[in-house]
Amino acid sequence: MQELAYVNDAFCPLDQARVSIEDRGFLFADGVYEVIISYGGKPFRLPEHLERLRRSLELVSIAFDVEAAGVADIVQEGIRKSGWDRTQVYMQVTRGVAPREHPFPKDAKPTFVAFFRQPRKISPDKREKGIRLIAAPDFRWDRCYIKSIALLPNVLAKQGAIDAGADDAVFVTPDCLVHEATAANVFMIKDGRGRTPDKNQRILHGITRQSVLECAQALNIPIDETPVRMDELQAADEVFITSTTVEILGVVELDGRPIGNGNVGPLTRAIHEQFTKTISSHA
Ligand code: PDD
Repeated sequence: MQELAYVNDAFCPLDQARVSIEDRGFLFADGVYEVIISYGGKPFRLPEHLERLRRSLELVSIAFDVEAAGVADIVQEGIRKSGWDRTQVYMQVTRGVAPREHPFPKDAKPTFVAFFRQPRKISPDKREKGIRLIAAPDFRWDRCYIKSIALLPNVLAKQGAIDAGADDAVFVTPDCLVHEATAANVFMIKDGRGRTPDKNQRILHGITRQSVLECAQALNIPIDETPVRMDELQAADEVFITSTTVEILGVVELDGRPIGNGNVGPLTRAIHEQFTKTISSHA
C-alpha cells in the first residue's frame, strides 16, 4: 500500500511528484479538479466525475481531452497500484506551464496530475453526534458549478468556522439564500419532506447530491430542489451535508442554535444507510 502520484505521464511516489512553479495552477489557480473515492477498489461514479471534469474544462477553455489522455485508465491503474480498499483520488488539470502573463499562453500543454491516498476517516463520534455549521457570506464568484481549483474563499470560510468553534460554514447570500457548505452540498428535512438548493450556477452540482436524490427516491422520501432560505434551514427538523469525502453527514447546530432536537435525525441516518448499500452493491 502506498501513496502515489501521477505526473508527467508516469506514476511515482507522492513525495517525489514535482510541478514547475511556472505552472498556471500555482500562479493563477488556472485549473479545475475532481475528487473521487474508490470503494472495494472500484471508483464510485467515475463516469459522472469524468463528465463533470469535461464540463469544467470546457467552461474555462482548457483544451485537454479526457478520453485521449486515458484519464479513466489512469484512475483505475492508480487505485490498483496504491492498493487500498478505499482510495481518495484527486485529479487536477491546469492550463500548463508558461511565463507569467495573464492571457492564455499559445503553446502551453495542459498539466494533468493526480494523487492517490487513503481518505481521511470521519470519526465515528462525529458521524454519530453530527457537526456544527455557521453562516458565512458567499463572497465566491458566480460560477461555482465549475470545479475550479481557486478555493481561497472556501478555505477562509472553513478556517473561520473552525476558529469560531464550529465544523464548517454554509455560504449564504445577502438576501439569506443558502448555497452550500465549503466543500459539500446542503440538504434539509421538514415534516418528512426534503429540500436542497436547486442546481444553479452558485453551487457545485455534487455527484453525492445526485446519489442522495436517488437514495431518497428509493426510500420514498420526497426531495424538492428549490431555493432554501436561512430561516428555513434553521427551522428544519434535520439538516445534512453531502460530498464525496464526507458522504452524508448530519448537522446538529447552525449559528449556535440546535437543528431540530439537536441530534442527527432519523431520515439523515436512513439516507446514509441507503447510500452505504449503494456503495456495497457498487463494490
Ligand atoms: N468537494 N460543493 C463544493 C463547493 C465542493 O467542493 C464539493 C466537493 C461538493 C460536493 O461534490 P461531490 O458530491 O461531487 O463530491 C459541493 C470535494 C470533495 C473537495 O473539494 O475536496
